Amino acid sequence: MANVSGSNGYGNPIDLLTKSTIDELIANCDTYPDKFLPWIKGRHTLVPGMYDLGSHPVIVKEVSKTLGNDVILWSSQIIRQSPSVIHRWHIDVEMARWPGLTVWVGMKNVTSNSLKLISGSHNFGISPQELAERDRIDLKNDAQVLAAAQKIDPSSKLIEVDIKDGQFIIFSGLVWHATQNVSDAVRTAMIFQYTTPEHKLFIPQNNHYPNTKYSSLQPDCILVKGKDDFKYNNLIKRSYSGSWKAILKTFLVHLPHNIYRKLFIR
Ligand SMILES: [Fe+2]
Repeated sequence: MANVSGSNGYGNPIDLLTKSTIDELIANCDTYPDKFLPWIKGRHTLVPGMYDLGSHPVIVKEVSKTLGNDVILWSSQIIRQSPSVIHRWHIDVEMARWPGLTVWVGMKNVTSNSLKLISGSHNFGISPQELAERDRIDLKNDAQVLAAAQKIDPSSKLIEVDIKDGQFIIFSGLVWHATQNVSDAVRTAMIFQYTTPEHKLFIPQNNHYPNTKYSSLQPDCILVKGKDDFKYNNLIKRSYSGSWKAILKTFLVHLPHNIYRKLFIR
């Protein structure tokens, strides 16, 4: 796969998992509800299976083609999408603060229109959320979003990613994307996000883009390739993931913080 910073902003689907291993992998990784994690994207702190999948050599080889020799993972998630659910067009809020890549892994009941992207949108300099605010675009309406994109770049296209269960795709963190489930079964995907160690990362407290509020708490990160000369982030080892120390820190530090955030941060 070529460097995804290029013209389209995304790569081709790549084989990762065999179908026979997927159910076991999901069961291994789904051992805590999201609300008990340090934060919504912090599953690798408590689940070694998530640590391992995010560090998978095939994924790391591909992300390093864009990010270079030193790469950290900062985010891991399991996303279950019910039938008829639409996740509006957006950019993940963290990508306004630090650059990076998203890896989207199709796990179960993925169809060829589960994930949609706007080609070249990582170069637009504006997010769908900002356009919605400015031009009153409905972010669940593909035609409106595509028309807005083509006002910026007439050559941009709406891509329905032809990805199958067990494959992954990489896209730039600034690519406009949306998901939907048009099937009648729950769809499962996993998301891993990566950056380089010179960025100091913090956990967001709300979902506003680009004016996101940030916590003073930092996400646990995994150095999946190379070295970290900057020491700005909390790097965790495989042995820490799921350990009593990790569980204790989550309960004593992150969960009280999350309760405070839910009550008082808008
Ligand atoms: Fe996203």
